[in-house]
Amino acid sequence: MPEKVLDLRNRPLRDLRISVTDKCNFRCRYCMPAEIFGPDFEFLPQSKLLTFEEITRLTQIFTSLGVGKIRITGGEPLMRRNLPELIRMIREVEGVQDIAMTTNGSLLSRHAQALKEAGLDRVTVSLDSLDNERFGVLNGRGYQVDAVLEGIRVAADAGLSIKINMVVQRGVNDQDILPMARYFREQGHTLRFIEFMDVGNSNGWRLDQVVPSREIVRMIHTEMPLVATEANYYGEVASRYRYEGSDQEIGLISSVTQAFCSTCTRARLSAEGKLYNCLFASSGDDLREPVRDGRTDEEIRELIRAIWERRDVRYSEERLSETPGLAQREKVEMSHIGG
Ligand code: GTP
Ligand code: 5AD
Ligand code: SF4
Ligand code: SF4
Repeated sequence: MPEKVLDLRNRPLRDLRISVTDKCNFRCRYCMPAEIFGPDFEFLPQSKLLTFEEITRLTQIFTSLGVGKIRITGGEPLMRRNLPELIRMIREVEGVQDIAMTTNGSLLSRHAQALKEAGLDRVTVSLDSLDNERFGVLNGRGYQVDAVLEGIRVAADAGLSIKINMVVQRGVNDQDILPMARYFREQGHTLRFIEFMDVGNSNGWRLDQVVPSREIVRMIHTEMPLVATEANYYGEVASRYRYEGSDQEIGLISSVTQAFCSTCTRARLSAEGKLYNCLFASSGDDLREPVRDGRTDEEIRELIRAIWERRDVRYSEERLSETPGLAQREKVEMSHIGG
């Protein structure tokens, strides 16, 4: 039986989100603006990335501390070579109940079948617009919507469970809310609307660009009546609504207007092996050296336990109370730890 570790706010460690690369083929403004992540930007060299064996070993140690849910992220995780092999290795770890992956979908049609066969359960595809022109600008590289929709189709056919994540920015893609809702309702995939957050140091976030979830619910409800639904599990990030008269649902992730730090069970491991206890942390604790310098599983386990037991973060709740100076604080880049 895994042990249960609690942090200083009594939050158990349950989810591990593993970034497998800091690279991405997109340049979304809110995550990797092209002027910063340009041709000369130095991404992590291969030698600094955790190997699949190291990731699997850490996963094993994390599950012994209560982790059951694994999410593979990036950057864009499909930029990492042989990803299905990693999925296969993680699938075999005792205690792993659920393996999901966050992806921009552009390379999904090529890899979905192999990922499913390797044991992946679910994919969450980020998609902020169905309009080709807007989407091309949003992803910073002119990628077309069709490639992503094709990826979603192939993944669904392969038997992967699918959710769609849309980050909503006022004045940028709020006109896409209704078309996205209509389309994915018809497709039968859960669409989640995410409030634009002040992640990283370079995304130029402003509060007036956030479209509060309640506004989105109101907008959709006027056309397609919604009914509020209970959370699926303790600490679920999204609030759920279903369309009246059907089981088809949407989710709202309100990290700005209704922070959910009080039930946050998520640890994040960067591609270079740093452990972050919050999406907005300024620094992480290195696990790569301990893994490489011959420490035993038990020693690393105690290290992780100690990190979790002194965890006190609740960034989004503090932002909500507008703690002075918070916005100026140095934060980890989203492309290092995924969403
Ligand atoms: P499920 O397991 O499918 O319920 O996934 P999830 O709800 O954990 O969602 P996902 O990983 O798709 O996260 C969706 C988005 O929610 C992310 O891209 C972030 O924008 C936001 N998010 C997820 N976890 C956190 C968190 O711990 N803190 C904050 N502030 N935002 C988060
Ligand atoms: N605010 C909210 N969500 C974000 N993501 C990236 N940057 C932000 C932000 N500033 C989301 C992406 C994707 C996941 C990796 O994180 O849309 O769904
Ligand atoms: Fe890439 Fe996702 Fe970041 Fe966009 S949000 S640049 S797709 S990692
Ligand atoms: Fe968890 Fe930090 Fe997000 Fe709060 S802001 S929910 S503590 S990751």
